[in-house]
Amino acid sequence: MRFRLLGSTDLEVSALGLGTVELGIPYGIGTPAPPGDSDCIRLLRRAFERGIRYFDTAAGYGRSEELLGRAFPSSTSRPVIATKAAICCPADGSLLTGKPLARHIEDSVQSSLRSLGVQELDLLQIHAPDSGDFISEDLLAIMVSFARRGVVRHWGVSTYGEEQPLQALNHPRTFRTLQVAYNLLDRRLSRTIFPSCYRLGVGLVLRSVFLKGALSARLDSLPGHLAPLHRAGLQARILADGLGISLPALALRFAAFQPQAHVVLVGTADLGELEADLAAFAAGPLPAEALARIEEIAIGDQALLNPGNWGI
Ligand SMILES: NC(=O)c1ccc[n+]([C@@H]2O[C@H](COP(=O)([O-])OP(=O)(O)OC[C@H]3O[C@@H](n4cnc5c(N)ncnc54)[C@H](OP(=O)(O)O)[C@@H]3O)[C@@H](O)[C@H]2O)c1
Repeated sequence: MRFRLLGSTDLEVSALGLGTVELGIPYGIGTPAPPGDSDCIRLLRRAFERGIRYFDTAAGYGRSEELLGRAFPSSTSRPVIATKAAICCPADGSLLTGKPLARHIEDSVQSSLRSLGVQELDLLQIHAPDSGDFISEDLLAIMVSFARRGVVRHWGVSTYGEEQPLQALNHPRTFRTLQVAYNLLDRRLSRTIFPSCYRLGVGLVLRSVFLKGALSARLDSLPGHLAPLHRAGLQARILADGLGISLPALALRFAAFQPQAHVVLVGTADLGELEADLAAFAAGPLPAEALARIEEIAIGDQALLNPGNWGI
């Protein structure tokens, strides 16, 4: 495993991280249910044994935080655990402001501290809604006030699309890390956002390397209205077959060696997939010819690159 500092934070992280929404709620194509608690804890500890030192979770991921707290009690050496707080009203999805926003974040922080069994959160990311402006003066002021209290070590943000990261990068001292979607079908941010993160010292975390499972055997389960996505995935699979590797291995080896990224997340609840991902990562970057072929794969309707638009 390779380790590095996460941007300008003091958090030492592994280049490969584990996403844990799959452990807390039914998630992914076909919405498979999470495994039982003991299997989840075995998976988390196995990931740690294999060198993974960055775990992504959120207050909104069901039992995920609690399972992390049980897998890594505070008496042991612990990985970096990055959690998230939502900023929308749970009832109607509208962006919160003023006192309701402050109360919501306070409750979320207290709940995350309890579930994880810690006095201070390593990294708290604002869990941005899946589109639109989300940064307000209220939000920035609340974040500053938490930093003074010592319960949040670093603040970051997890975003969608290109506009939200651009907004966040206007505040690089406030949002010290940025989590974005990036995969072999969705390469847009590498030209714009990644160089800016590098220049500003913002820690860059990549998710969605399997496009929520579309770049895996689940490709064949995509419904008919996602045919353009299916066709693009088939092109990638043909390329993987030619290299003698699986589609998820191609997808991971494409995303994991972006020089400006600090962590790439794999989201899995399955030990076999985790081992396959570790093996694919160890195999190193893809050959230049394969990277050139990936650049030729294009999707006309870019809205399909956001699983939130799939309607499944
Ligand atoms: N807004 C946000 O902050 C946000 C949004 C989404 C995700 N996330 C984070 O990112 C993590 C990853 O989620 P994602 O949506 O980006 O998914 P992803 O990592 O692109 O895909 C994960 C899905 O791919 C399938 N898969 C098939 N083969 C795999 C393999 N070899 N290794 C891993 N997965 C394989 C798994 O489902 P099956 O095994 O069931 O096929 C798994 O559920 C989440 O756990 C979460 O922590 C954050």
